[in-house]
Amino acid sequence: MAPPLVNAWAISSIKRMNKFRINRKKEHLILASQGFRCSFTALYEDILLPHDCLTTISPEETDLSTEYCGIPVQSPLYINAITGGALVSENVNRKLAVLAKEFNLPIAVGSQQAGIHNPQLKFTYQVVRKYNPEGVVMANLPATATVMQAKAAVEMVEAQILQLYLNPAQEFIMPEGERANKKLLANVADICALVSVPVLVKEIGFGIGASQAASLARAGVRAVDVSGTGGTNFARIEGRRNSSHWWLPLAAWGLPTPLCVADVAVNAPKIDVLASGGVDDGISALKCLCLGAAAIGNAGSILWQLRNRGLAGAKNYVEDYLRQMRTGLALMGQSSLAGLHQIPLVITGRFKELLNQKGISAKYYWRRGY
Ligand SMILES: Cc1cc2nc3c(=O)[nH]c(=O)nc-3n(C[C@H](O)[C@H](O)[C@H](O)COP(=O)(O)O)c2cc1C
Repeated sequence: MAPPLVNAWAISSIKRMNKFRINRKKEHLILASQGFRCSFTALYEDILLPHDCLTTISPEETDLSTEYCGIPVQSPLYINAITGGALVSENVNRKLAVLAKEFNLPIAVGSQQAGIHNPQLKFTYQVVRKYNPEGVVMANLPATATVMQAKAAVEMVEAQILQLYLNPAQEFIMPEGERANKKLLANVADICALVSVPVLVKEIGFGIGASQAASLARAGVRAVDVSGTGGTNFARIEGRRNSSHWWLPLAAWGLPTPLCVADVAVNAPKIDVLASGGVDDGISALKCLCLGAAAIGNAGSILWQLRNRGLAGAKNYVEDYLRQMRTGLALMGQSSLAGLHQIPLVITGRFKELLNQKGISAKYYWRRGY
């Protein structure tokens, strides 16, 4: 048995860590709602979707259903991991759950570490299941979590999918951040083997490339959400929480979302690819779907709407987003998402150059489908 002194120290350090975590979650909500985002282009202007002036499909006739991790879903848009673990999170998660239910969107809760370390905070996550009892809910933990924690997180919100997040840039920039875990992939493989639901691995805004996606597929991961640059920027958010300036050049770190999607879809085809990171409108979303994504996550913009324009603003935003998708789909002459991975695209400019460096010729997109 450990000496009492060590126990007391351990308990107080867990309490200290929980306090840090809760304050951090509150600060993330505030800073993300103030718009700490990438200031550079996400390359969507370099992707042209094909226009079909002879279309026979109207927007209302389109079917937006899709499937990933072996789970069929009604909408390709899902609400990505944002919050939980602080009292203010309960209010945010309740509204997000109402939004998810109204539009039939899958929804992820924020990191459940706080709820696992402090069971009194479980309700801040469980509110999502309470207000969205039939919907697809994703649990969320860091990829360094233990198998026991992963099982507890899934059980806590009765999740159908477990998201594990990778956030090395955030950890290295934040003063209280953790160092790299040498056994990360082995840990992910253990979780995949032992939890009862499919595992999805995501970044938080710096991107996942094909070589990492292929390693994750070998570990048993069913899908990656590339969560690349273009939207929420955790270098800027953590930098803002940090009183120094050394991190400033890292505000431009990371890989753009559409590049990651194309790279994973072409060079690591054994894993489902999902797109998030600045996919802020329905037409950018369609571009990611045409590049190979099965679905689109959105966190920062939905949160911004919710915090600055209330639930009504967030509802308008989602309604417009889905309408843009349906309209774009109809204008391409498509009645569903099924044909998008084969539709010809025109790729120009910097995106074309970047694809070339990934060994993907822009001609591949133009010629496919013919
Ligand atoms: C306030 C806030 C908190 C977040 N917390 C989490 C989290 O707990 N777990 C996680 O996997 N991702 C978290 N994310 C990252 C998002 O899920 C997403 O990957 C990232 O914000 C990029 O998407 P976006 O540009 O649509 O915001 C958070 C994002 C925001 C804005």
